[in-house]
Amino acid sequence: MNVFLKSSIGKKLLMSLSGLFLITFLLVHLVANLFLLGGDDAYNVATHFMDTNPVIQIMQPILAVGFLVHIIYGIIIELQNRKATPVKYKLVNQKESSKWVSRNMIWLGLFVFAFLVLHIANFFVKMKFGEMAEVNVDGVTMHDSYALVAELFECKIFSIVYIIGFIALGLHLHHAFWSAFQTIGLSNDVWRVRLSVLGDIFAVVITAGFTIIPLKIMFFG
Ligand code: HEM
Repeated sequence: MNVFLKSSIGKKLLMSLSGLFLITFLLVHLVANLFLLGGDDAYNVATHFMDTNPVIQIMQPILAVGFLVHIIYGIIIELQNRKATPVKYKLVNQKESSKWVSRNMIWLGLFVFAFLVLHIANFFVKMKFGEMAEVNVDGVTMHDSYALVAELFECKIFSIVYIIGFIALGLHLHHAFWSAFQTIGLSNDVWRVRLSVLGDIFAVVITAGFTIIPLKIMFFG
């Protein structure tokens, strides 16, 4: 097992499995965030549910491990690719833009990582360990998470950085989605095209879904 995980294919497999795990997390996270569009009570009830749900609490450290595995192996694979050959990906019938993305996965990933640190410091740490205002919704006292998010997104610079972060993530996903299925052997000539289209739809949904929230708060309050 240890030998397999140290092999190129083992590392690549860890990359795809951790990436697919992160993709699932992104969907759950987006659904939770979209409650922001429903106003303060809707979002506060949704975050209160997440804060008190044992499954979500168990998943949090697992998610942190998923990120660590993905980032550490991403850097290792990139360094090995650089040492071995200047050609890092099998580039079949790809547009120039796709080639650029596939060649720069590490930079897009590191940019997403920098954004992730900002995101965790501003949202996760404040919500989990900071002094939060409280509200009462239908007789239940809970954190006013909506107020924290709305205050941050009212700052235009913060919102623009946040949107740029999600554009970088969308580009990462544009290549990552189909590539992960290719790695685990669930792709062939026909499915390669379908997965590529599906990946693009997923990337647009994630980028647009997360971006619509700061835009709404910035322009409509
Ligand atoms: C929520 C955030 C992220 C998601 C959903 C995600 C998802 C994925 C997926 C599915 C793959 C394809 C794996 C494969 O080809 O088998 C991938 C590749 C990659 N990711 Fe991420 N990723 C995320 C964040 C990051 C971060 C923060 C880094 C920082 C280093 C990173 C670096 C990479 C690299 C370098 C590759 C290409 C590896 C290779 O050469 O095969 N990713 N990502």
